[in-house]
This record gives sequence, structure tokens and C-alpha cells, in this order.
Amino acid sequence: MDVRKLVGRMTLDEKASLCSGKDFWHTKAIERLGIASIMVSDGPHGLRKQDMDAAQPSINESIKAVCFPAACATAASFDRDLIYQMGHAIGEECQAEDVGVVLGPAVNIKRSPLCGRNFEYFSEDPYLTTEMATSHIKGVQSKNVGTSIKHYLGNNQEHRRMTSSSQIDERTLREIYLAAFEGAIKSAKPWTVMCSYNKVNGEQISESEHFLNDILREEWGYDGFVVSDWGAVRDRVVGLKAGLELEMPSSGGEHDKRIVQAVKDGTLDEKILDRACERILNILYKYLENREPNATWDKEEHHKLSRKIAGESIVLLKNNGVLPLHDRQRVAMIGAFAQKPRYQGGGSSHINSFKMDSLMDAVQEKFGQCRSQITYSQGYETMDDIINPVLMAEAVVAAEKSDVAVIFAGLPDSFESEGYDRTHMLLPNCQNVLIEAVSKVQPNIVVVLHNGSPVEMPWIGSTAGIIEAYLGGQAIGGAVMDLLYGDVNPSGKLAETFPLRIEDTPSYLFYGGEKDITEYREGIFVGYRYYDKKKMDVLFPFGFGLSYTTFSYTNFSLNKESMKDTEELEVSVEVTNTGNTFGKEVVQLYIADVVSTPIRPIRELKEFAKVALYPGETKKITFLLGKRAFAYYNVQINDWHVEGGEFIVQLGQSSRDIVCQKTVSVEATVMLPIVYDDNSTIGDILADPKAAEVIRPMLELYNSNNSMGACESPGQEAGTAQEAISDEMNKAMLAYMPLRQILSFAPGLCSYEELHKIIKILNEIT
Ligand code: BGC
Repeated sequence: MDVRKLVGRMTLDEKASLCSGKDFWHTKAIERLGIASIMVSDGPHGLRKQDMDAAQPSINESIKAVCFPAACATAASFDRDLIYQMGHAIGEECQAEDVGVVLGPAVNIKRSPLCGRNFEYFSEDPYLTTEMATSHIKGVQSKNVGTSIKHYLGNNQEHRRMTSSSQIDERTLREIYLAAFEGAIKSAKPWTVMCSYNKVNGEQISESEHFLNDILREEWGYDGFVVSDWGAVRDRVVGLKAGLELEMPSSGGEHDKRIVQAVKDGTLDEKILDRACERILNILYKYLENREPNATWDKEEHHKLSRKIAGESIVLLKNNGVLPLHDRQRVAMIGAFAQKPRYQGGGSSHINSFKMDSLMDAVQEKFGQCRSQITYSQGYETMDDIINPVLMAEAVVAAEKSDVAVIFAGLPDSFESEGYDRTHMLLPNCQNVLIEAVSKVQPNIVVVLHNGSPVEMPWIGSTAGIIEAYLGGQAIGGAVMDLLYGDVNPSGKLAETFPLRIEDTPSYLFYGGEKDITEYREGIFVGYRYYDKKKMDVLFPFGFGLSYTTFSYTNFSLNKESMKDTEELEVSVEVTNTGNTFGKEVVQLYIADVVSTPIRPIRELKEFAKVALYPGETKKITFLLGKRAFAYYNVQINDWHVEGGEFIVQLGQSSRDIVCQKTVSVEATVMLPIVYDDNSTIGDILADPKAAEVIRPMLELYNSNNSMGACESPGQEAGTAQEAISDEMNKAMLAYMPLRQILSFAPGLCSYEELHKIIKILNEIT
């Protein structure tokens, strides 16, 4: 389709109308020109296509589909291929259901465990986030269906999400919050980007030329279209100019009228409107021209895939040997979630599952009629957090009579959801009390958790095993069963730190903000970047997860010991399954900067790979690291910069468990510009060999005259210090002294004009 020509034939009214939705889920058709409308639907972990026959299409039930595990779970798989398969399956469903864009993935960083929507987000780490999103997008778009990476940008809380401003400094934006989008946008090219409701640094994202145009399009080369989050538009004309092409759902024509008016009165160049229409039509036709009108999809196959993904995502947090269970053991399954698991979160991502397997369904599937060794007791209520003594007593009796008690606990819907944040990190009290009560009669307790974000575990010491099953989709019951009985070997790793208590979290003091201002004062120290730097104890570190087998790492090597920052470093290692059962290992590669001028985290995740191994099998893994792996974002040059020096390449089984490491020396090819002025310190000037030569004669004079005692410049003998002033103080005084102070501390040493001549020379030679 020649989209430019088509736009040339559109009237002003038609062009304005194309830039907003027809209703909640459709773009507008322009019948006169044969432009069809397409449907967009929520995801991201399944298809939430609203039934258009209902009276209120925004809130009614959606069609029956498959609920895959939510992003909190899939991120823990650390498995790019698996996420691709999930995206591909969702793409198939969209083709069959005539949905042109499925809204997601959501890549906002988990700044705090309190964010009500964390279950929809991948991780506290931007690299893991952007890699998972890349696979999701590529999977969906392989079926010629679009995605909408969201919510761009700084939407890390639900509290006042539509009005608040996230105050984030430039380096933190680049290294953490933008980085989560950047990789996926550059490599997977999502058809659409959804801009968030909030402001960033006081600027409404839906109107931000800086974020929508300068960074997204100019820097990252984005060529799809930007759609507003539902109702995120404020000033439509300003938004259009900045690069917000499609408003969703619509403003009942109000904003369209303003666009028309602005073109007429000359405040909006019509070319901007044409450009927006072209961008929208390009994507529309990408879908329309690749429609598969006879497409079908296999519900049962997708259900099986959902079970497989859940199995690969579950994280085994603790195991004193109680797991896996044996078929003949008497097992008390306890907890309402064993019969009705919480397997997805509330809000726009809620899928109408065509079926759901609970743990008890999976018990039936595995043991059929001969399941007398397995009992079920409800244990607690899910509606209210009230201790039910009868339910609790039944559970305790069942546990006492069994070899093992498996307690299904977690957060009910009311505890976490889109639209509001959590106020604490606790499980319902009735569940905590139940776990303690059961532990009094049964030492072999396994707790299975269904939650979208970390919880405190006051009972951890009384358990023999803990399984983090997250919100694992409609097949979660089967997946947990597979893991409990060892049919699947756990291989999930935490994509977020589990802190000991909410007070320990980096944003604790400022999270939620004051009225509409939320300051991200912890800066780049989000998640493990903070806990590791502060050497804090945590409940479970980022990247942690156990297996029923063991792995060893050998022949770890770097292909060079030193390199320029423009070169690539090849890192390889051989991983062996040293246990007795098939399993998968996630090899995590972290980079640590040994000495650095900028304040940096101890280590940062820069690569990972998941490898499947039979007992005794060895596989070689190779990673290629480029400049970005060693760089930090420098706000002086507005670019990624490598400070030359030594870096440690570390392979770990978590951010706290480094298995092997080697050092590489990296030479910087870009020097930071130095500008000297009268406030430049002597220490900084001496650190620059060429500049040091320029001021050395003046320093020598200064040292011999200095009334506060002699100072030394490099290469000189220490002078005699006065009693009150130590040598160290003298050195520090000199190092931190700005050039201008020469005039006051050593009057007569040089004139004002001479000093400024020296500054001029300093700038000329560097
Ligand atoms: C949510 C988006 C969602 C949209 C459409 C918004 O409130 O923030 O994630 O895609 O609604 O349902």
C-alpha cells in the first residue's frame, strides 16, 4: 500500500479522526478510501479480546483464551526461546481472532515490591527485562500481529499513576528505566509503543518531544507508532507535535476537533498530522496485508505450552531434601489455593481462561482413583483475612497424619492489583498463623507461594521447602505437581530480590511520593544493585533458585586479557550436570568495575544463558560482550562511556554467588572533555600529566612560601609541617584547593591576570 499517496487523498477531518480510536478497542475506518479498522486487545500473557456484543465493551468479559504465566513468572525462566514460543502462540490466537495489536509486554522496572502491578512486569534488572521483552515481541510479531511495549516511561507505581511525576535523574533514566525499553525497541522493533499516564520530571509523557521524539525516534531509530495509554492524553495538539500518533480510546471527537482547528489556525503544521497518519497506516496495513483469515489455534496445545512455561519459571527457594516427593508418601495438601490457585493478576491483563488446572486437578490426573495417600484441607479463607479455627484445626490434623504437608499460600486478589499499590509485604495473617500451626505438628512442610511480588516469610525457619510459583497461568496446578514430584526439575531463578522486610528496600523512604511528586532518590541503586552495594542480608538474592541436580563450571576463559572499548570480548565456559537427573542451569554473567570514578553498583547483569543438561553432560557456553557491558551513562557527554581500567567478568548462580571470575583490562577510546577554570582543583590538574607540567613551577613556589606549611607536589620531598597540621591534611588541602585560592593563600605568587593566562594554557594543551 502506498501510504503516502493514501494520506494525500484524505481530508483534514479524516486525518484528524484517524488519530484516535473509534471505541475502546478499534481504530477508525475510513470507508470512502477503503481504510479498514483494526482491533487492539489487552495482553500481555494471553489474549483479552472483549466481546463486542456486550453493552459496555470496556469492562465486560473477554472471549475464552489461554492464560499464560504472568511476566513476574516468565522472567524467572531466564529463557528467551520459551518466551518467544509464548509470544508466537499469542500471535496465533490474535490472527484467529482478528486482533491486530496485542497490548504488551509491560517492561516497567520493579522499583519497589509494593507496586501493585509488579506481577505484570519482568524484573528489577533492565537487561533481563529488555531481553525477555525482545523475545516476547519477536514471538508475537512473527505472526504479523503487532505488540505495544508499555508503559513508556517511569510508571513504577500505581498510586496516582495518572497524575504523578516521576522525578528521575538522567543517568538513572538511561541506565535503569529507559534501558528496559531501549534494547527491545532497537532489536525487536515493536509495532507500537504505549506511552504512560504519568509525567517524568514534570513533563507529561504523552506530550514529551524529548522522550517521544528525541530519544525514541532520533536516538533509537523507532519507526512504528506511539499510542497513548487509555486516557493518557492531555493536550492533544502538543502531543501530536511531540510524536503521539494514536489516542486511545477516543475523546468522543473533542480532541479530533482541536487538531482540525489547530491546522486551520496555523498552530499545527499539517505535515505533522500527515506524518502521524502515515505512521499509523503503515502499521495498520502491515497487519491487514498479512491477515490469515482462516487461521485457527489449538486451545489444548496452548494450555500444554502454558504448563511447560510455568514449569520452567517456578523457583525452588528452599529444599532440605524433602523434595521431590515420592508417589507413596502420605501428603496433606493444605490451603484454598490448592483447589483454586491465584494464577493471574487483576486489571487490564485479566484473561478469561478457557480452563484452569488446580493442584488438586493435577493430583487427580496423576493418581486417579488411587489417591488415598493425598488429602486436601482448605486451611484458610481467601475472601477475608480472618482466622477460621475449624479450617485450621482440620489442616493441622491432616498434616499430623501425613509424611509431608504442602501448604499453598499467597496473596489474594485484593492484596495486589493494577490501580493501587500494596502498603506492606506481608501475606494474609491467617495464612502465616496456619503455617506456624502446621509446623508445630509436622516438620516436613513445603510452602508453595502464589504471588506477583515478594512477600515476607516469618515462618521460613519452620519449613523444609519453599516453592515460588508466582502467578503461573491457567496450567499452574499441573506445573507445580510436576515439580513437587520431580517430573520437572526446577530451573527458575529470581528476577528480583526478596528483601527481608519492606523497610530494607531502596525506595522505602520515598516510594509513592508526596501528592504528585515521586522522587527516585535511590538513583541507579535499584534491587540487587542496592542490596549488594550495602552488603545487606536479603531473604533471597536476585538470580537465586535451586535445582534437584548440581552443576559445575570449568574452562572459564576470556579470549583476551586486555582490549579497547571498541572491541568485543568473548567469554566461554563449560557447564556440566554433576548430579543424577536432567536439569537446566541459568548461567548469569555479571560485570564488576574494579575502580571507578563514577559511583557504580558492585556488579551488574550483562548476559545470561539457559542450558539443558543430562546427567554427566557438558556444554560450552559462549558470550560476546561489547562496549555497553562495561559502560555507564555519562551525563557530561550524554553518551555511554567506558572509563578505562580493570573489569571483572563474573559468572554466578545468583548476584550473591559468583562461581568463577577473571579480570580484563579495558582501554577507553573516548576521553572525557576536560575544561579548566578558576575552580579546578590542584589535585584534578595534577592527575592530568600534561596539565601538571603547566602548574608545577607555580606549585613549587607556593610550597616554599606557603604560610600553612609546605605542601608537596608529586616527586617532591615532604616539607616540615606545623604541629597542628599533619602531612595528610596538607596534602588534602592542596589537592582540594581550587586554583583561584592561590591568590588568597599565597598572595603575590601570581597576579589575577597571570592566573587566568595559566588557565588559558591549561585549556589549550588538553
Ligand atoms: C492500562 C494499560 C492497558 C489499557 C487498556 C490501561 O489502564 O494501563 O496497560 O493496556 O488500560 O486496557
